[in-house]
Amino acid sequence: METEVEPTLKIVPDHEAMSELAADIVAETLTSDPEAAISLPTGSTPVGMFESLIRRSRAGKIDLTRFHLFCLDEYLGVSVDNPNTLTAWLFRTFVNPAGIPIDHVHTLPVTAEDPAAAAASYEREIVAAGGLRLAVLGIGGNGHIAYNEPGSGADTRTRVLDLTQESIDQAAGYFDGATVPRQAMSVGVATLLDAEKIVLIVSGEGKQEILRAALRDPMSADVPASWLRLRPERVTVIADEAAAGLLDNR
Ligand code: PGA
Repeated sequence: METEVEPTLKIVPDHEAMSELAADIVAETLTSDPEAAISLPTGSTPVGMFESLIRRSRAGKIDLTRFHLFCLDEYLGVSVDNPNTLTAWLFRTFVNPAGIPIDHVHTLPVTAEDPAAAAASYEREIVAAGGLRLAVLGIGGNGHIAYNEPGSGADTRTRVLDLTQESIDQAAGYFDGATVPRQAMSVGVATLLDAEKIVLIVSGEGKQEILRAALRDPMSADVPASWLRLRPERVTVIADEAAAGLLDNR
């Protein structure tokens, strides 16, 4: 009987081990292609990975000055000068301390007059950079990858979409009392599936159930992360033991 090909699953003891393994994969990509186009996520999950990459860069082990960083998502209509944006967070947490040249950071065109046309041009920007060599992703509590909320199909491209209340509530922590925008621009699921390599990092007990659904339930737009199983040979899931608690070991 033919067995279904599944994403590579690496279960590691804790957040730190997850961060190191994810940083290893970013480092390998940079070694094989120093000018690679790479997308990296925001949120609490990747913070340890960013710290590890900064340490490696300061120790002279990796060069972070040549690759192209493609942002995954941003709130619609919000200027990058706004400290609450995902882009501003990424600059504070990674881009500035890592010394990544600003012109190597590709941000979502969320203030464009014609967001649909600008989103299409962001897709072309990725292609012009040679396509994503690596996409590192987190998973939202509702199964989103980037800001592809439930309902996002596997064929979606960079576009504007409505955020769920759950995502708005999650984002409120970053908005310091200010109103969270109700729409975002996100790279699409199909855009992510085109990446040569995809790494999903997942940490903590709070992600147990959504990770189980993403990897074990039938693929569905209800859990956009489940679409990653359409390209199992490209995908590595790195989960800490707490997040992997509901996965049977098959
Ligand atoms: P988190 O966010 O890392 O803060 O849990 C993940 C996400 O929503 O993609």
